[in-house]
Amino acid sequence: MKLLILGSGGREHALGWKLRQSNKIKELYFLPGNAGTSQIGVNVGIDPSNHKKLIDWVKDNKIDLVVVGPDQYLAEGVVDTLQKAKIRAFGPTKVASEIEWSKSFAKKFMVENNIPTARFKEFSNLNKALKYISKQTLPLVVKADGLALGKGVVIAHSFTEARKAIKEMLADKIFGKAGAKVVIEEYLEGREISIHAFSDGKTIKMFPASQDHKQIGEDDTGPNTGGMGTVSPLHWVSPKLMKEIEKKVVIPTIKGLEKSGRKFVGILYPGIMLTKDGPKVIEFNARFGDPETQTYMRLLDTDLQEILLACVQGKLSKLNIRWKRQYASCVVLASGGYPGKYHTGIQISGMDKTIDRSVVVFHAGTKIENGRFLTNGGRVLNITAIDKTLKKSLDRAYKTASLINFQGKQFRKDIGRKALS
Ligand code: AMP
Ligand code: GLY
Repeated sequence: MKLLILGSGGREHALGWKLRQSNKIKELYFLPGNAGTSQIGVNVGIDPSNHKKLIDWVKDNKIDLVVVGPDQYLAEGVVDTLQKAKIRAFGPTKVASEIEWSKSFAKKFMVENNIPTARFKEFSNLNKALKYISKQTLPLVVKADGLALGKGVVIAHSFTEARKAIKEMLADKIFGKAGAKVVIEEYLEGREISIHAFSDGKTIKMFPASQDHKQIGEDDTGPNTGGMGTVSPLHWVSPKLMKEIEKKVVIPTIKGLEKSGRKFVGILYPGIMLTKDGPKVIEFNARFGDPETQTYMRLLDTDLQEILLACVQGKLSKLNIRWKRQYASCVVLASGGYPGKYHTGIQISGMDKTIDRSVVVFHAGTKIENGRFLTNGGRVLNITAIDKTLKKSLDRAYKTASLINFQGKQFRKDIGRKALS
C-alpha cells in the first residue's frame, strides 16, 4: 500500500514511524514533512491547502490512503475533496470536524446531546458580552469561536482581563473571522486529561488516557503552547472512569454527529476536566493530538495501517486493538523564545546520543542542510521513552533531552510530575 501523511509535526513523524513497522506499507510520503520524516519516507513539497495540486499529485502517484494530521486541513475540507476524487482518506469531513473548528457549534451540540460541559453563552455583540460578564463570577473563560492556533482561550482572573479579551476578539478582531463570535463559559476546576478514540462512524475504540502540558512554564505557568510534553497511561484514571467517559462523552458524540448527517470517521479527541461533579468536556478535537500521538504510537501494539483502513471501511468493530502494558512519556525541546518569537536555522547536536532502544526522538520543526540537522520551528524535537513505570520512562526521556543540544533549547523539567502524584 502507498500511504500519504499530511502535516509536518512530531505527530506526523510518530504516525509515520509506527506505520513504517507495517509490512503492508510499501511507500510512505509526507506533505510537507520535516527532517525526521525524510529519514523514513519521502517529503513532497506541495502545500496540502492547494487541493488541485494535491489531488493531481495523489492521482499521479496512485496513493491508496491519505492520513490527515492538522485541524486546519480538516477545516479546509481536504477529506471532502479527496473523497470526491475517490481517494480514501482517514479523517472527518468538513462538517464532521466542525466540532473542533467552531466552539459555538460544539457547545450547542453538547447541550442538544446531553454531553457534560461547562455552562456558557455566546456573543457576537460587544456590549451584550460586556454586560453579561458583569453579572458573572470569576474566573471566567473567554474563547474565540474558530481556530486560533491554540491562542484563542483566555482564563480571566479579573473583570479587566475578561473585558480586554472580549474587546480584542470582537472589536479589534485579533483573530479575524475566528473571533467574530466568542464563547464565555464557567471555569472548570479539576485535573485535565486528553482522551482519544478511533471511530469508523459507528464503532469507537478508546485509547488509554494521557495528559498534556500546555503551558510553557513549569507548574503550568506562562502562555499556552501547542503542548510541551505528554505521559500515558494515567494510573489514577480507572477503567471505570474511562467507561464513564466513553458512555457519557465519546459514544453520544459519534451518535449525535451521525444523526445530524455528520458521520465522523477519524480520531475523536475530547479534552476532559475531571471535576467533582464528574468528567466534563473542555473542547473537542477532530484529529490526533500533538504531542499525545508521540506517546500513543510508542504504546500501540496493533498494526496502525490495519486500524486506519478498518476505520475508513467501517469495519472497526471487527478489530481488537492492543496496547503495550507500559508507560510512555514525551518531552518537547523547543526553540528559545517559543511560544513568542524565535530564531530558526540553529544547528542541533547530539542526535546520535539516544541512550537505547527504549528512546525514540520524533522531529517537529527541523530541516536538514548539508547533512546537518537544523531547527526550523517553535517545537523542535520530541524525546519519547517507554518503560515499565512512568518514573523510569521519564528518567530515560530526560537523560536523552540533556544530551541533545541547540542554542536556546528550552524544555519543561516537570513533565509527568502531576501524573506521578
Ligand atoms: P482549549 O483551546 O479549548 O483546549 O483551551 C486551552 C486550555 O484552556 C485548556 O487546555 C484548559 O486547560 C483551559 N480551559 C479551557 N476551557 C476551560 C474551562 N472552562 N475551565 C478551565 N480551564 C479551561
Ligand atoms: N495536545 C494539544 C493538541 O493537540 O491540541
